[in-house]
Amino acid sequence: MTEGENRVYLVDDDVEMRTATAQWLELSGCDVQSFADAPTALAELSSTFSGVVVSDIRMPKMDGMTFLTRLYALDSDIPVILLTAHGDVQMAVDAMQKGAYDFIEKPFDPEYLLDIVRRACEKRRLVMENHELRRRLAGVCGIEQRLIGNSPEICRLREEILDVADTDAPVLIQGETGTGKEVVARCLHAFGARREGKYVPVNCGAVPENIFESELFGHERGAFTGADRQRIGRFEYAQGGVLFLDEIGTMPLPLQVKVLRALQEREVIRVGSNEAKPVDIRLISATSKDLLTECSTGTFREDLYYRINVVELRVPPLRERGEDILLLFNYFVSLAAVAYNRPEVSLPSADIGLMMNHDWPGNVRELKNIAERYVLSSIPIGQRLTTVLRSPHQGAINSENTSLQELMRYHERLLLEQALIRHCGDVQAVMTELDLPRRTLNEKMSRHHLDRKNYL
Ligand SMILES: Nc1ncnc2c1ncn2[C@@H]1O[C@H](COP(=O)(O)OP(=O)(O)OP(=O)(O)O)[C@@H](O)[C@H]1O
Ligand SMILES: [Mg+2]
Repeated sequence: MTEGENRVYLVDDDVEMRTATAQWLELSGCDVQSFADAPTALAELSSTFSGVVVSDIRMPKMDGMTFLTRLYALDSDIPVILLTAHGDVQMAVDAMQKGAYDFIEKPFDPEYLLDIVRRACEKRRLVMENHELRRRLAGVCGIEQRLIGNSPEICRLREEILDVADTDAPVLIQGETGTGKEVVARCLHAFGARREGKYVPVNCGAVPENIFESELFGHERGAFTGADRQRIGRFEYAQGGVLFLDEIGTMPLPLQVKVLRALQEREVIRVGSNEAKPVDIRLISATSKDLLTECSTGTFREDLYYRINVVELRVPPLRERGEDILLLFNYFVSLAAVAYNRPEVSLPSADIGLMMNHDWPGNVRELKNIAERYVLSSIPIGQRLTTVLRSPHQGAINSENTSLQELMRYHERLLLEQALIRHCGDVQAVMTELDLPRRTLNEKMSRHHLDRKNYL
């Protein structure tokens, strides 16, 4: 089919009628596919169908009304034009109420049918264009734009997130401080079936023990001194959405029993009440502690551990994914430059070795902090980094003893990356600026795991 051609699926059990209508539409430039019954047509239709459907109402096997209902379960935006015999008009009116595009009484003027088909095709084209725009927009705000990183570890993590996002399985996110556990939790919500529902985070480490139960399960008025009104807890508040229990390892043991009960029974009891309220939530938890060790020392309940850990996602520390360091640094520099209205500054190669060699005990948060200070501070970056970064571990390289080859590799990557950021992923512009042939640029980008999509 050429672009702009009107595509029609024609369904009619009457062979003469079908052939004559198909011929007329084809002569008028439509791309027609004919079907003798609705089930065969249905099998060929999906939401990617870019045309319209013209269908008879009275047909054996499946009538036009059932066809319409089934088709609209697939995609209610496909225009359906119904052909009605004399006396079927009431049925056609009902069909219009169900969303049919239009109906025509037989016998009809072919020009009239053609006119309706053309208008319906135009409508379909607009709907498809709209879908395409939305799809692209979703791509732009995709998971790569939230959980930044090109290392194989982060690529795998993104895939794991998307694999489980649509399920209701409880997820336990493990990782050192600042690695991005909260980012992962938000991705699970944003790309999951409950994205329209709430995302309710609770930092278990920050809730005072005496109000923990009421914070999670709520309380009735007068349940305890100071409870002057009823309050719903975080579980109930997250109804239909996602509850994120951050630092779950810090939860007091008596509360752990109650949380386990709530998860098993899928209901909560407010403090001061006897009545259980059903809750429908997806639980995501995070911990920077090793919960199995906590189980063995008796500070975390094993039964709760297995209940919250149906899926386990591990966020690797930054020192295990060195190739993400510069990418993240440049990303945070760009963000900070925009936020503080400062020019973007590039990193002298002498500092790259230091950055690559640093242990990053505070992980991505520490890196983000350094990037922000780098943009804001007037102190040369070398001095800033030397004072901010802790001394490298024994035998480690720094800018003085890093091999020239290594420094050149880091520097090359940095230059490529900055050019990609400057040109928003426009490879042609990067080629021109750096005066590189396309093949060389492609090879270098692939060697450094740089993907232009991340800079669009
Ligand atoms: N891969 C990433 N891409 C973009 N930003 C990230 C990434 N990882 C972490 N960040 C950013 O780094 C900071 C720390 O991340 P986050 O709060 O998710 O870490 P955390 O593991 O929950 O830390 P903590 O253990 O201290 O709670 C945040 O500002 C977050 O937006
Ligand atoms: Mg966190």
